[in-house]
Amino acid sequence: MNDLEKVVALAKRRGFIFPGSEIYGGLSGTWDYGPLGVELKNNIKRVFWKSMVYERDDVVGVDAAILMNPKVWEASGHVEAFADPLVECKTCHERFRADQPEEIQKHESIHKGKKTEWTEPRKFNLLVEAKLGVVEDKKDKVYLRGEITQGVHVNFKNVLDSTRVQIPFGIAQIGKAFRNEITPGNFTFRSREFEQMELQFYVKPEKGESQKWYEYWKAERMKWYVSLGMDKKKLRFRQHEEGERAHYAKDAWDIEYDSSFGWKEFEGIHNRGDWDLSQHQKHSGVDMGYTDQESGHKFLPYIIETSGGVDRAALFFLINAYFEDKDRVVLKLHKKLAPFKVAIFPLLANKIELVKKARSVHSDLKTQLSELVAWDDRGNIGKRYFAQDEIGTPYCITIDFQTLADDTVTIRDRDSMKQERFKIKNLEKYFKKKFNH
Ligand code: GAP
Repeated sequence: MNDLEKVVALAKRRGFIFPGSEIYGGLSGTWDYGPLGVELKNNIKRVFWKSMVYERDDVVGVDAAILMNPKVWEASGHVEAFADPLVECKTCHERFRADQPEEIQKHESIHKGKKTEWTEPRKFNLLVEAKLGVVEDKKDKVYLRGEITQGVHVNFKNVLDSTRVQIPFGIAQIGKAFRNEITPGNFTFRSREFEQMELQFYVKPEKGESQKWYEYWKAERMKWYVSLGMDKKKLRFRQHEEGERAHYAKDAWDIEYDSSFGWKEFEGIHNRGDWDLSQHQKHSGVDMGYTDQESGHKFLPYIIETSGGVDRAALFFLINAYFEDKDRVVLKLHKKLAPFKVAIFPLLANKIELVKKARSVHSDLKTQLSELVAWDDRGNIGKRYFAQDEIGTPYCITIDFQTLADDTVTIRDRDSMKQERFKIKNLEKYFKKKFNH
């Protein structure tokens, strides 16, 4: 099994990610996050928000509606140009993206010996349509947002008027997006429903200024992934070629990850120029201009965008963290991302004093850390360690007979497997420092 297959199996077995609507045979390109998966995703979003909004003075957040007036998508160019080239195999009528030669070749190899005939490529729009309204024949066509971005740009004026932000400043957002992907695949890598975490950063339109911020955000985003434990050697930047860029982008670079299915896009960093604001100004008739408070000069800002997938990050963090180490599988997830921060074990499940003491440590730590703390009293200690290693819990605490005598416990470290004895009264301070509270 390659890394991806191992992670798919682990994700199902331990409750990270399940196929969407599984008991009905699934729905292609949709995934459900289980008890551990929701924690991993929430932790990714929490760390993103902290670094983008709480730790900066020049970024604020919004949470815009998924359903928007369809005119938004006409103005943004998505109705016209948000499309992939589609080809169909004339023998079995399966559809593929013409710009993905590996998948075309894979399919051709199925028709061994015979030449596969393909239809001419045609543009296939990725926007997912829905109907809104209560009267059947008067329902309006709407789109599920194809990118979360437009909800930010249509609120540019609202944010300016309701806060004290001044250019350069950014608006961060996290939320669901939907795309009618022609070939969803590689687990959650390409889904039809997924979450994005984005920053739209508004700057003066001068070339030097927008380029400065573009380089700044490229570097920041790369640093962010590395700071969360991504292997630097498996990340690289790649600039989009002419003809590859999305309709809104003046310049586009991807952070790519070296996965078992090739170097793949992790996050896109785009210079959107004044595309979005000028298009919304034109189509809505609302003035989107920004007036510089010092010079009185009025202009349409340029937008530097960082756009990452939360699900894609969860997948690549899982693959990056997966290790087989002698007789154990261990997820070396960064402490900030691990679903459970600590696990508590009474040495023996049938010794009432041990269980009572362990329950009290468990309940205290949960409150003190405001984090998930696991409880396990099944099987022997070795098995419990391995069960926690497999889901990435950084620390395990065992309450044993010595605990009853001197109020100390053993703390076992996931990565080094070393054990130390610690006073219960010092646990709160110790873990708060570890988890940077
Ligand atoms: N607002 C810009 C934008 O949406 P994008 O390159 O189309 O740009 C940004 O998407 C990120 O969203 C990607 O780098 C990826 O992480 C994530 N993403 C895009 N399509 C996806 C899909 N079908 N499934 C999962 N994640 C996806």
